[in-house]
Amino acid sequence: MNTWITATFSPTGSTRAISQAIAAGKEQQHIDLLKPTEAQLIPATTPLLAVVPVYGGRVPAIAIERLSALQGEGGPAIAVVVYGNRAYEDALLELKNTLTGCGFRVVAAAAFIAEHSIARSIATGRPHEQDKQTAAAFSVAIDAKLALPLAEQAEVSVPGNEDMKPLPQMPATPMVTDACGGCGYCARQCPTQAIPAGNPRTTDASRCILCMRCVSICPRKARILPPPLLEGMTARLQLCASEPRLPELYV
Ligand SMILES: Cc1cc2nc3c(=O)[nH]c(=O)nc-3n(C[C@H](O)[C@H](O)[C@H](O)COP(=O)(O)O)c2cc1C
Ligand code: SF4
Ligand code: SF4
Repeated sequence: MNTWITATFSPTGSTRAISQAIAAGKEQQHIDLLKPTEAQLIPATTPLLAVVPVYGGRVPAIAIERLSALQGEGGPAIAVVVYGNRAYEDALLELKNTLTGCGFRVVAAAAFIAEHSIARSIATGRPHEQDKQTAAAFSVAIDAKLALPLAEQAEVSVPGNEDMKPLPQMPATPMVTDACGGCGYCARQCPTQAIPAGNPRTTDASRCILCMRCVSICPRKARILPPPLLEGMTARLQLCASEPRLPELYV
């Protein structure tokens, strides 16, 4: 069995959970795209599994930028997006195009569902056991494809528009309540350096991508979304994202 390199951008952990379910027992190296990446050549003999979340139907720009530091030598890649049960729109095509542009052959792709990291009442508890079983079956199908002669390892087609929808504008940043003790943990963990280390009670709106990491990791639960924003987003999502969706596999 091949061992794989995985690369994930997972502010609140569910993208990483999907990556671990797909690559169970195969992970040789994990590249954490929450941190700046170094240029790295991925040998053609080592499959790359890239897993990113969907934000507004696209891949977060910083994840694309950091993934682009990886250079393939014509080897296989698996493109996976994780979304909060609304829609993944152009994100899977964007990820596939990025990997192709970096010199990989995208031989498998998938869209998985996870709990919505903003509106936690949407797709609560996913990925669930059935999602993990689907991830394991996907992994087996990828192994079978990679065992074929190279000429038979066709690249996959995925849904999405080449004329991609615009990147989303974030309507707000998290706010900080009086519970904050000023420990600076959120500043060290923010993937975009939007929280000043010397003043973690503030947020630089020009850098914040509303990834929810600081909200999910603050030990005092002192970072929250402004309540009216959360209520409005949850109500909108309840209208269009409450029917459970199934993972889609392309292999
Ligand atoms: C800013 C933002 C935008 C999002 N946009 C979408 C979306 O367009 N469609 C969707 O179904 N889920 C959307 N989600 C939900 C995430 O894709 C989903 O919760 C994902 O699993 C988060 O990954 P993580 O747990 O690794 O952070 C969005 C989440 C955030 C924070
Ligand atoms: S918001 Fe939370 S993590 Fe950030 S400085 Fe305050 S207590 Fe620490
Ligand atoms: S400040 Fe914004 S970008 Fe940084 S962790 Fe919090 S939500 Fe994410």
